[in-house]
Amino acid sequence: MQTNLMQADSSGILQAAQLLKQGELVAIPTETVYGLAANAMDGTAVEKIFAAKGRPQDNPLIVHIDSIEMWKTLVVEVTEDAKKLADAFWPGPLTIILPHNGNLAEQVCAGLDTVAVRVPSHPVAQKVISESGLPLAAPSANLSGSPSPTEAKYVLQDMQGRIPLILEGGSCEVGVESTVISLAGKKPILLRPGYITKEQLEQVLQKEVEIAHAVTHILEQGEKVESPGMKYKHYAPKAQVTILKGNSLQYQQYLQQHNHQGVAALCFEEDAPAMQVPFVVYGKENDPSSQARELFSALRKLDENGAQQVYARCPAEDGVALAVYNRLLRAAAFRVVQL
Ligand code: TXA
Ligand code: MG
Repeated sequence: MQTNLMQADSSGILQAAQLLKQGELVAIPTETVYGLAANAMDGTAVEKIFAAKGRPQDNPLIVHIDSIEMWKTLVVEVTEDAKKLADAFWPGPLTIILPHNGNLAEQVCAGLDTVAVRVPSHPVAQKVISESGLPLAAPSANLSGSPSPTEAKYVLQDMQGRIPLILEGGSCEVGVESTVISLAGKKPILLRPGYITKEQLEQVLQKEVEIAHAVTHILEQGEKVESPGMKYKHYAPKAQVTILKGNSLQYQQYLQQHNHQGVAALCFEEDAPAMQVPFVVYGKENDPSSQARELFSALRKLDENGAQQVYARCPAEDGVALAVYNRLLRAAAFRVVQL
């Protein structure tokens, strides 16, 4: 299959909508990462997503919609808490899980009785949804296991020959995937941290939001997870990544002691001037949003540079930085060294 890369202008959007209505896949930009979209009402189309990504069948997809009206056609009930969060954060990088009503293709929810939904704020994503008139199932547009794509060129790297169209929409502003919260149980649970923080969610809900254990912990053998995605290896570059917890000085000292062939650093902008080994920067030390924006492309650059062993400066673990830490932990397969 030939993969076309088109500008996300009106003819690109029209072409995307047409392909989606015909049951084909289209990669589209969103404010978080590029998504690999298919008609969420069409099981055969949704199966193509799993095939193109090499995604495990039991890992459900997020459905992208353009209105509360569309949401109501997919779920049993838009609860009061759900409405509050939607009013506060949509359109934007928040995904809300509620019990579904069976209208969607069953492959979307991978056999669960809940569905994850969000309204993206990226104008191109919005136009593709409204032009097609369809709810779009869309996971990140990477091969399963590799870093999520924040630029069209990275989608092309992974999806060339697998899908007919990629819409070029520039770099993604947020850079890490949406915050995922489940409102399907008794208490709200944060399943995946993102740009919308636990504190922001609690402020709007006026109640505590629990963080799922697997967000920052390696899964124990046989541990039950709230979100199937937690089971799988994620965001891993080809290089082996190790997170180093410590200050700038300790980090530099460790790198000097481990300055072997193939070693590279994944560091903050402030670390760069003193760096003695090859390095790629991901954001500024006290600016977690910049770290989120740059992390995934930095991981891909390390591979492009042929790095074999990457030592990453550890981000903070609260607010937006929790999203960065969560992705980096998975990229590093939970290898952390306390300096
Ligand atoms: O920002 C994003 O959310 C991006 C863009 C494209 O919108 N999409 C994205 O999708 O990150 P994906 O498929 O890569 O991640 C979806 C995550 C997975 O970890 C999956 O297990 C979880 O959400 N998930 C989806 N539906 C769920 C459900 N019903 N219950 C629990 N977890 C669910
Ligand atoms: Mg993904």
